[in-house]
Amino acid sequence: MVKPSAPIGIFDSGIGGLTVAHAIHRFLPGESLIYFGDTAHLPYGDKSSDAIKYYSIRIAQFLLKKKCKAIVIACNTASSMAYDVVREFTGSQAIVINVIDPVVEEVTHIKGIGKIGVIGTKGTVRSEIYSRKIKKIKPSLDVASLATPLLAPMIEEGFFNNKISRTIINSYLSRPKLKKLDCLILACTHYPLIKPEIEDYYKNSVNIIDSARSVALYLKEMLTKKKLLAKGKNPKHHFYVSDYTDAFEKSTKIFFKGKIRLEPHSLWEK
Ligand code: DGL
Repeated sequence: MVKPSAPIGIFDSGIGGLTVAHAIHRFLPGESLIYFGDTAHLPYGDKSSDAIKYYSIRIAQFLLKKKCKAIVIACNTASSMAYDVVREFTGSQAIVINVIDPVVEEVTHIKGIGKIGVIGTKGTVRSEIYSRKIKKIKPSLDVASLATPLLAPMIEEGFFNNKISRTIINSYLSRPKLKKLDCLILACTHYPLIKPEIEDYYKNSVNIIDSARSVALYLKEMLTKKKLLAKGKNPKHHFYVSDYTDAFEKSTKIFFKGKIRLEPHSLWEK
């Protein structure tokens, strides 16, 4: 029997998914969170889909052992490649949510737009998942996707709001493919941290959408529907990484306001 007081599991290749965890904490303040950053296998953006499926199932197994009532795949790359296998593996033990569907839902409801840009890792862009899902709902929309592999490592290294990040962002966003956009999807959970710079580039003429907020609201709706919303006053959060380094501990501060103590947990432990 799943209980409302059970924690919500959230995972990503590293710490980018903390942007989603942060939004979940903001919109669902009574929930206890268990975060897993698979730092031993970071980045996911370049890995094969078999590898991503394997890591994702191992992480889901860990989160189910921790009795999570929901698993949020807070990574676009894993959402695009491993959502189905994680759902199959999890069965009725927990709700499984990806970061793509809530955004597709949001974007296809915006009135009067014609062209949508998508930026993300090589894996996410190669999967063409956004254009397939968006066009299934609204075939008239034009979707242009561009892999922007330098952005995630750049952000992890703390390079944003500076000359270097602006140069790299400008170089990607000025590609002919991304001309004349009405809307841009930040299809990587690292990117909310550079949203202000992207907005600056477009001088606020393009609607920039990131998944953190819509995923948190979608999760809230699902938990409410299933009467699984926690109303605890003292939620407890745990943050695990599959490979611990001091540098990660430092970077977490960029992604999650508030104090975080990372706990190492090898994915290969039984
Ligand atoms: N945060 C992951 C995503 O949303 C990308 C980072 C990585 O390549 O591991 O796709």
